[in-house]
Formats: sequence, C-alpha cells, structure tokens
Amino acid sequence: MTIVHGGNVYELSALAGCSPEEILDFSASINPLGPPAGLEAVLSGCFRLLESYPDIHCRRLIEAISKFHDIDPACIAVTNGSTELIYWLPRALGVDSALAILPAFGEYVKAFELHGTRLEKIFSTPEKDFKPEVEQLDAALRNHAFDAVLLTHPSSPAGALLGVETIDWIAEKSSGPGPFLLVDEVFVDFCEQSSLKRLVAGARNLALIRSFTKFYGLPGLRIGYLLAPPRIAEKVKGFLPPWSVSTAAQAAGAWCLGREEYRLKTLELIEEQRRRLAAELSSIPGLEVFPSAANFLLVRMDRGLGPASSLKWDIFKRYRILIRDCGSFEGLGDSYFRVAVRLPEQNDRLVAALKDALSSPDSAAFPTISHARP
Ligand SMILES: Cc1ncc(COP(=O)(O)O)c(C=O)c1O
Repeated sequence: MTIVHGGNVYELSALAGCSPEEILDFSASINPLGPPAGLEAVLSGCFRLLESYPDIHCRRLIEAISKFHDIDPACIAVTNGSTELIYWLPRALGVDSALAILPAFGEYVKAFELHGTRLEKIFSTPEKDFKPEVEQLDAALRNHAFDAVLLTHPSSPAGALLGVETIDWIAEKSSGPGPFLLVDEVFVDFCEQSSLKRLVAGARNLALIRSFTKFYGLPGLRIGYLLAPPRIAEKVKGFLPPWSVSTAAQAAGAWCLGREEYRLKTLELIEEQRRRLAAELSSIPGLEVFPSAANFLLVRMDRGLGPASSLKWDIFKRYRILIRDCGSFEGLGDSYFRVAVRLPEQNDRLVAALKDALSSPDSAAFPTISHARP
C-alpha cells in the first residue's frame, strides 16, 4: 500500500535539481516559526547523556505533559512520534474491527490493515464542512459491533472541529462498555481549549493521540503521546519497544511545554494568518476555502480550473512552492488541495503564485515521482 505524505522536499529537490531549502513548503503543516528559540542549547546539553540509554519510563517528559494538561501521569504514554502510537494501538487494544471516519491521515488505514483489522469507512462531507454527523455514526454502529471508532479533531485535511452533538456522543460512548474511541488530536494544540482531554478522567474507552510535531515544529525529533484512562495507557506501554523515545526527544519535549511565550506567539500568528490567507484564497475566482481551526486550509477548485495535481506541479516548477494535492485522501479527490498557514510574506508569495498559475497555467508535464517509501 502506497501512502502519500506532505513535506516530501528531499525527493522533490533531487528531482528538480534544487536544494531542499529553496522549496517553500506549504504541503506539510508545521509551525512556521520553527522550534522555540533556545532548543539548540537544550539539545547540545543532551550530548553528554548519549552514552547512556534514554530514561525507559520517560519520567521527566511525562511529568511535563501531566503538568501542562493537568492530567494524571498514569494516563500518559510517550511514543516515537504519534505515528508509532498509531501503529501500536490496534495491536495493544486488540482492534479486530473498526469504523474509520475519512478523509483522515493515511497511516491509520495501513496500521489497521497490518493488524488485520476489518475496517469500515464512512465519510464526512463538504456539505457539512467535513464534520461527521451523529446520525452517520449511530447508523454505522447499529449495523455492526466495532472494537474501535476512529475520529480526527480537528479533522485533517479540513481542520474542522467536531460539533457539540458529536462531542456529547463521544463523551457518552466513551464512558460505556462500547468500542474504543480513538481520537487523533495532533493538530488540537492550535485550539487547545477544544481538546477532548477534559473527558479522559471520566472515560473508560477514550484514547487521544497527540504530537509535538506540528505545534512545536519538530517533525525530525519524533515525539508523540497518548492521553487515555490508566488501563489503556498501561496496555499501550506494554507493547512499546524500550527506549523508542530518545534522550534528546525527551529533554526537548519537556522543555518545549514550558515555552509559554512561544505558545502564545504561535497562536496569535496562526489565527491572524489563517484568517488573512483564507480571505485571500477565497477572493481567487474558482476557489472555495473550508473553515479550519488548525494551521492549514483545505481548498476546493472549480472543475474548470483542472486538477489540483497539475496546479501543484505548475507552481512547484515556476515558484518552487509546494502545496498538497488531496487526490490521495480517500473521500476527497483531485479538485482539492491543502496549504499550511505560514508567515505573512510566505503566504503572500503563495497567493501571488496561485493567482498567476490559475490565470496563465503552464501544463507542461513534470517527471513523475515515486511516493513509495523504503
Ligand atoms: C492527522 C495526523 N495524525 C498524525 C500524524 C503523525 O504525526 P507525527 O508522527 O509526526 O506525530 C500526522 C502527520 O502528518 C497527521 O497529519
């Protein structure tokens, strides 16, 4: 199974004969401020610790997560990026059948398939701003008993928060004997007050999937974590390989959670720029922008503008700007693309490039690239 990801700058730069730094990457939604200033010193401070194994229990990092979210340390398991957690969850929780609300991050389907999970997919729709409806969920659960239900909050790649009714539904279901409610919240740091973490203490079956990647600009360090009732956290920890979270990742994660000034600056920047970018993109004829609470925007193109994959290659060739066409997301199609919210001047460059490319497209073919991972 081939999964397409954003942020493919190494492969693209090799293909285009440029350096990765020349590419302005809107395809991966990462904090455009980069990691908090001062992290370099924290990382170099770890150098002398590299001759020992990392703390196998990730104590300092768990303590910091516990303090930040005001949640019992027994409810936390730390992993090598949330992707590691995604791959262990079906095994640790014995998920043999699952209901997935799509479109969603492609690795879920692969992780479920690798475990042999029988997967039923239902789709959130553009008419409802990609918010799943309680009626859809109830209808699917009436027909089958699933071991788990997968949701994303805010949704990806649309950025929609779950509606109040759906949140009430999750609160009710997760306190009963029914399926595990697995909720991907890797983008919720951009709207932390909306996190479902407040439900964890009273829940039986809720598992929240969190990450440092997006908000703290750290995709290369790999830090993810689970927030769940202690029984679930214990099960997951029982499956994790030892030392999967490095000493540097543990130290960096704990330190980042104390950077309140950086957090507030990020929130202010993203909120302001998301509003501005959404308005600019909406003003381009033929583009429709969906409401987002995250650091990215999903855009639908009128059919007459051609497929998003052509637009992507066009602006990459001409401006070295990379956007994420959404043809590979099940439940979307090639009329959608997603862009990260970046710094003001970078967002301006994106808007100018899109305006230019859409008014005078250059459809010369770009060499095909293989998205298959090693
Ligand atoms: C919705 C969603 N969940 C999870 C992940 C995995 O992130 P990481 O493994 O870096 O924590 C991604 C990465 O793109 C994502 O978009």
